[in-house]
Amino acid sequence: MTRDFWIGTGWKMNKTIAETLDYLARLATVDLPNDVRVFVVPPFTALAAAKRAAAATPVLVGAQNMHWEEAGARTGEISARMLTEIGVDLVEIGHSERRADCGETDATVAAKVRAAIAAGLRPLVCVGDDRAELEAGASAEAVVRQAKLAFAGLTPAELDGGLLAYEPIWAIGENGRPATTDHVAEVHSALRRMLDARGLDGVALLYGGSVDADNAGPLAALDDVDGLFVGRAAWTPEGLAAVVHVARSWRFGDAGAHL
Ligand code: 13P
Repeated sequence: MTRDFWIGTGWKMNKTIAETLDYLARLATVDLPNDVRVFVVPPFTALAAAKRAAAATPVLVGAQNMHWEEAGARTGEISARMLTEIGVDLVEIGHSERRADCGETDATVAAKVRAAIAAGLRPLVCVGDDRAELEAGASAEAVVRQAKLAFAGLTPAELDGGLLAYEPIWAIGENGRPATTDHVAEVHSALRRMLDARGLDGVALLYGGSVDADNAGPLAALDDVDGLFVGRAAWTPEGLAAVVHVARSWRFGDAGAHL
């Protein structure tokens, strides 16, 4: 099965509406290749403005989280209905920062994935191993387990077009150290085997954690990598464009089409 190649950036708790509009206006002047699906994941306050600003461009817009219930007494939460009203293209679920800071568990992640799919939203599920799991040689086992629990009971048709991002906790953020391509290849191959064994070949596998224009190429060239999920290095449109172009040329060679 041929899957699309994805490159996106999660902005975490960064960017006002004005900063979001400035980013997207500058990104619109960049020549993005049409064989990479590019997405940004702004904070909730900037989502509606981002979606409007990106409407005339190929850039997709995602949300950083959602609740599994449709409505109710859940102060501070956002439901799938609120996201579909804005027209978001995808929703991030289970990022390790939310698992650590906001009490997300494999059970809440699974409930959210189910609710996202029921609402017609494309889930971007994040899984990650911690340093102890890395040091014990248990990275692949840890994330395969998380992914199995996130997708439990869902059919290949329901998960077709879904995104799964492997983001090692030890590789993310200021204190992160980038994973080697060998490590990413090994973990992605384990995730792909698990997905294929369940008929979930329509799920694309992204890698994230200290990705930048210097290391994106070899990661993008790996067989079981269908995309990259980038934080800091893509918080400027020029940074995102640099990652997209490097990754694309390693992935597809230089003969690809441009917009
Ligand atoms: P960094 O690229 O800043 O390490 O963040 C990755 C990430 O968490 C994307 O969701």
